Formats: sequence, structure tokens, C-alpha cells
Amino acid sequence: MNENLLDKEISISSRDILVTRTDHAGVINYGNDVFLRISGYSSTETIGQNHNFIRHPDMPKVIFYLMWKSIKKRKNISAIVKNRAKDGSYYWVITDFKTQEDYSGSIKEHIAYRRAVSKSALEVIEPLYKILLKIEKENGMSASIIYLNRYLEERELDYNTFIAQLNKKIPLSEIWSNKIKSLFS
Ligand SMILES: Cc1cc2nc3c(=O)[nH]c(=O)nc-3n(C[C@H](O)[C@H](O)[C@H](O)COP(=O)(O)O)c2cc1C
Repeated sequence: MNENLLDKEISISSRDILVTRTDHAGVINYGNDVFLRISGYSSTETIGQNHNFIRHPDMPKVIFYLMWKSIKKRKNISAIVKNRAKDGSYYWVITDFKTQEDYSGSIKEHIAYRRAVSKSALEVIEPLYKILLKIEKENGMSASIIYLNRYLEERELDYNTFIAQLNKKIPLSEIWSNKIKSLFS
């Protein structure tokens, strides 16, 4: 695994959708071209890897804890995630999940769809993640779970509504103008 880190952000355009598919345990079996282009890996470098191989150390554990708790129940969660690309640079995405079952009702596959995050959402998320990470380093994840719950309670929001509110700050006009541009590029 490549552990180097670069203080360089890869920007994601509002047309980019980074898709990966994994088995029930998070082992990648597919990454689309956009995911490969942004992350800098080839298809063969990603297939068979546990998804944590792109984990960025700035990510608090509690976000993945909530993510797994939700997707194991076959429920979507919109998670804002900082990922590490192959060269050590980073990119921010908001990820939504779909779960597929096999004929017996067991989880066969998870599919992640990642899109760009607005600057205004990151202005809230980056300082929050810094606090969560510090709490985890000093007191463990159970303390960061309590902190995040209190943070959401204070705002009278559940996690998904909190993220949806932050993210709807991406103006629709920006999304549509990019979609129209992509038709001509
Ligand atoms: C479909 C799917 C997509 C995932 N996408 C990411 C991702 O983009 N970045 C990431 O760090 N972890 C992602 N994960 C979570 C990882 O499997 C892992 O839980 C996380 O990186 C934390 O690693 P750790 O549990 O080893 O600390 C994804 C998991 C699934 C099932």
C-alpha cells in the first residue's frame, strides 16, 4: 500500500460520478473509469483490494462506523469522505450507497456512487472531522460517537438530513450548466 501523502487536492467536477462495487465485506470488484482516473489506479490495482486501501488518515473512524452500520441494514447513507489517490494527493466526495441481495436475501454487493462536494459543505465538515479525529486519538471512537450525536442533537438533525442540508448548497444551476457543457465536449 502506498502510504505517502501530498497536500494537493484533486478537484472533482460536478459531472464526475466515481463508482465502485464491492462484495459484502468491502472488497472491490469494479471501479468505473472516473474512479480510476481520479484515484490514479488501474483496474487491476483496485480489484481484489479492501476498500480501505484508499482511506485517508484525516478521516475519522466514526464516519465509517456509521456507514457500515447503515449499509449492513441495506440503508443508504450519504457520507462525505476524503480519499487518498495513488500519488498521495486527496479528493473529497459525497458517497451514496446501494445494496444488492442474492436470491436468499443475503448481501451480495454494495455499490458506491461518489460526487463532488460543495465548498460550503467542506467548510462545515473539515473542522468537524478534525475535532472527531482528535477525540478518537485521545479517547477512542466511543467518545467521537457521543460527540457526533450531541452535535446532531443540538441541530435537531439526523445524520442524513444534516449531510443533505449541507450538500444542497451546490447550486442546481452549476450542475445543469456542467451537464449541458458535457453534451458538447
Ligand atoms: C461500497 C463501499 C465503498 C467504500 N468506499 C470507501 C471510500 O471511498 N473511502 C474509504 O476510505 N473507505 C471506503 N469504504 C469503507 C472501507 O471499506 C473501510 O471501512 C474504511 O476505509 C475504513 O477502513 P478501516 O475499517 O480499515 O479503518 C467503502 C466501503 C464500501 C462497502
